[in-house]
Amino acid sequence: MALSKKDFDLKNINSDKFSTFDFVNFESDDMFEVSEYFWEYVQDFARKKYLVYGQPISSAPTPEFDVLDRNTNTVRKFLNFCSYNYLGYSFHPEVKKTVQDTISKYGTGAVSAPLLSGYYDLTQKLEESIAQFKGQEAAVVFPTGYSANLGTLSGILRSGDVAVMDILSHASIYDGVFLSDADYKVFAHNNPRHLEKVLQSLSGKRVIVCIEGVYSMDGDLANLPEIVPICKKYGAKILLDEAHATLVFGERGGGVGEHFGVEDDIDITIGTFSKAFGAIGGFASGNMKLMTYLRMSARSYVFSCAMAPHTAAGILKVMELYQQDKSNKIKLWENTHYIQKRLTEAGLDIGDTKSQVIPVMTGEDMRLREISKRIMAKGLYTGIVTFPAVPKKRTRLRLSISSNHTKEQMDRCVDIIKEAFDEIKNWTPGN
Ligand SMILES: Cc1ncc(COP(=O)(O)O)c(C=O)c1O
Repeated sequence: MALSKKDFDLKNINSDKFSTFDFVNFESDDMFEVSEYFWEYVQDFARKKYLVYGQPISSAPTPEFDVLDRNTNTVRKFLNFCSYNYLGYSFHPEVKKTVQDTISKYGTGAVSAPLLSGYYDLTQKLEESIAQFKGQEAAVVFPTGYSANLGTLSGILRSGDVAVMDILSHASIYDGVFLSDADYKVFAHNNPRHLEKVLQSLSGKRVIVCIEGVYSMDGDLANLPEIVPICKKYGAKILLDEAHATLVFGERGGGVGEHFGVEDDIDITIGTFSKAFGAIGGFASGNMKLMTYLRMSARSYVFSCAMAPHTAAGILKVMELYQQDKSNKIKLWENTHYIQKRLTEAGLDIGDTKSQVIPVMTGEDMRLREISKRIMAKGLYTGIVTFPAVPKKRTRLRLSISSNHTKEQMDRCVDIIKEAFDEIKNWTPGN
């Protein structure tokens, strides 16, 4: 039900009764009036020490970093289990040096869209390297991973087409489909039988199935060995988003497609440079003709400024380092197995994760708020995930593990979470 001002006494909003999302459909004759009420909601949220989002960081995203704690208004050291710096490349000395040297030559930005003067020799080299790395004919580099999904899906889908998405797909997949005139259907998370039922109902339609290698909120893996043959049987195209899987899964680091040996069956692979690559940007890879078409049809590519040359140079350096030495990948997996075991032994629910993305289930929103306030006070920074990113009763802390975490840091992380859970053991909604 949509909120309206009748639901509030303006100066007296109890944030416990609402979530951010409740304000989206606020009813008013004035489109800005929602902000007056939302403001009061946020003030109450902050007074209760629940405002743990977007706190300014003032050091590199290493396993311990400096954060301005809004609750104490001081910069404090926090254990960092939040950054997607899975392999520590964002602060690798050789990557930093390459980026610095490239800025000296090219300056700070691409300063144009790629079809005009934003396409540099370094961008071209990056596209060729990524295509080769993914075992595809070609790749297109986008400004972000979000815009890669947005542009690819909206650039290809037309009225009458159908996108069939895993229900837990990332917002950028949903938004890419919404931006097109295509219809969409969702299938139950990672459920091949339900997918088959949906595809059966779509005979005669042009269909693309959208899935993720590693699901970004749950850390589980797409059941590609069963999903891919079903897509083939019904003639559906496949888009696989390997955002969290690239450099982490597969012998070569190609992702979950490589891990399951089905890379050749994937029509379009999406990736981002904002996770294990430690940078920013995204890509789509596939056959040469399709990628050439995307350069003209993906509006987030055509009408947005291109990736900065120094970013492309930094990513190329990461790829070079990764080919030479995969010890950080080995360490990441050791760390992942270690902390998954410790969390489970501590009695915490980590869902079905099979990766370095580890949820710790907290239940309903108010429990999440109470737990996150406590872990923050104890100096632990994690992802704090609530609706609409996850279902309302499946909120969670989301831990991102890095090859740079030490055992001692992982032990402290588990201890802090366990303490916070123990402190609210007798907590019930409303008290
Ligand atoms: C599965 C998935 N796809 C795409 C994106 C968007 O990537 P970026 O943050 O690089 O825009 C994310 C980001 O978290 C993601 O998890």
